Amino acid sequence: MNLGILISGRGSNMESILKAIKKQKIPIAPKIVISNNPDAKGLKIAQKLGVATKVIQSKGFTGTRWEYDQKIIQVLEENGVTPKNGLVCLAGFMRIISSEFSAKYKNRIINIHPALLPAFPGLHAQKQALDHGVKYSGCTVHYVDSGVDTGPIILQEIVPVKDGDTEETLSKRILAKEHIAYVKAVKLIAQGKVKIAGRTTSRAR
Ligand code: GAR
Repeated sequence: MNLGILISGRGSNMESILKAIKKQKIPIAPKIVISNNPDAKGLKIAQKLGVATKVIQSKGFTGTRWEYDQKIIQVLEENGVTPKNGLVCLAGFMRIISSEFSAKYKNRIINIHPALLPAFPGLHAQKQALDHGVKYSGCTVHYVDSGVDTGPIILQEIVPVKDGDTEETLSKRILAKEHIAYVKAVKLIAQGKVKIAGRTTSRAR
């Protein structure tokens, strides 16, 4: 299986996935990291880890969402990350992808979200959780479908909210769990252990 990772910024989830693949010998080959933002810090990290990178700038792009996504698909395919044998990880990729892209790569794109979905989808999930006053939040790894943060859930990790938490302190504790959850999910998929039936996923033995 071939892996493509889409980022927009810091790239800490990308980094933990790339390092775990090497260390844990996860059976998936990282082929390409694509960023919509030329200044994404994650680009340098990927290069240091020996993975090819490509910038497809979204700022100033005047075409449709699908036209932009077709540029991404072209680069994925050039690098062997296809709907047949590829996995695409959205790792802090701060763009909504088109329904055409999610349909073409059905059950081949996964995302990490910093909340316990279906609570607090979209932007600033950690702040949404704090503002709501929940006692537990966490993160969710899920398949990407045509909605925003709506696809079948692969796994979740729980993070208790502490008295006095700020967006920053809660985000930091959630991020530590994100790194664990995202690696687990990539490993399960690479090993062919995730079965999908409608909205539900389960672990094949
Ligand atoms: C992570 O917290 C990720 O869950 C979040 O952006 C951050 C990216 O950090 N993604 C979303 O909010 C998507 N809706 P990273 O670049 O260090 O991995």
